[in-house]
Amino acid sequence: MKKLIDKLSLNHRLDRDELALLIDGRNEELAEYLFQKARETRHRHYGHDIFVRGLIEISNCCQNDCLYCGIRRSNHKATRYRLTIDEILECCSAGYQLGFRTFVLQGGEDLSFTDDKIVALIREIKQRFPDCAVTLSIGEKSHESYLRYFEAGADRYLLRHETANAAHYAQLHPAEMSHARRMDCLRSLKAIGYQTGTGFMVGSPFQTTDNIVEDLLFMADFKPEMVGIGPFIPHHDTPFAQQPGGTVELTLYLLAIIRLLLPKVLLPATTALGTIDPDGREKGILAGANVIMPNLSPQSVRQKYMIYDNKLSSGLESAEYLNSLKEAMESIGYQIVESRGDALR
Ligand code: 5AD
Repeated sequence: MKKLIDKLSLNHRLDRDELALLIDGRNEELAEYLFQKARETRHRHYGHDIFVRGLIEISNCCQNDCLYCGIRRSNHKATRYRLTIDEILECCSAGYQLGFRTFVLQGGEDLSFTDDKIVALIREIKQRFPDCAVTLSIGEKSHESYLRYFEAGADRYLLRHETANAAHYAQLHPAEMSHARRMDCLRSLKAIGYQTGTGFMVGSPFQTTDNIVEDLLFMADFKPEMVGIGPFIPHHDTPFAQQPGGTVELTLYLLAIIRLLLPKVLLPATTALGTIDPDGREKGILAGANVIMPNLSPQSVRQKYMIYDNKLSSGLESAEYLNSLKEAMESIGYQIVESRGDALR
């Protein structure tokens, strides 16, 4: 098995059967070996730098009804909110002063954020903070819309593929959503020139090892500049309330495999990982991750962006604690840098 890991870190590629073997045959000792290789690869390209992104959750209103998500349309218990343009700009301003040079505008698919509004918002942020990158994470849109945002100055776009298997996609989403459309969106984003991010939940309901292997092969082929993975965490007001959550252990293992498949990828230790393990962020970094996305949303809405139960938005997860986060990262030998942190291509 160590031979497989050596092969992966040398060639950045394994075939279907090898990946399945590596995942199903994992144990603690192999994981340690894998993490070490992932760190070596990460250090080669990004040294010990960690990039931070200020995450602004602009709206929890959503027209979609993804079965796993706490802000799905059918969850009538969710208290809905939407930030104003001015509130968003204030978040950016506070973030800029803290040292953030990337702002991630994330939200449900909220049609009252029209394209005109989004374009105006991107222009305003880029004008006020010309040295900052803007990342959008606002779901599936038309090619034309993606193009307009890009021309307005948006640099990056996050849209997880959720699962590379169409049948599995259909188990996680309502019938009106389609795997093909998701893939079209991802291809549009890439073709337009965005640094494009994709990803999936670890341990999502009905996920098999084969599904994970397909996810990995899809990503190796698509070559996203960013990949977001985190454990599935059930939300009590969704159809998946009773489903088991994903594990820290498998998430870390997959982070390391992804680092080796895509050596230069921007790979966050996600909030979901920090939510199920208080040391999740540090462990993620030590498994090959190189990005952290603290929450920069106004305090008043943080408890409302509950895509899963107990989602962290305070302590080290919040932008105000950047200094504590810096200390935590220094204690494991890494440093947070104040830069846009673009993907190396
Ligand atoms: N647990 C973990 N991650 C979730 N997401 C949505 N709901 C959950 C959940 N219950 C993830 C999805 C989505 C991203 C914004 O958050 O992968 O793409």
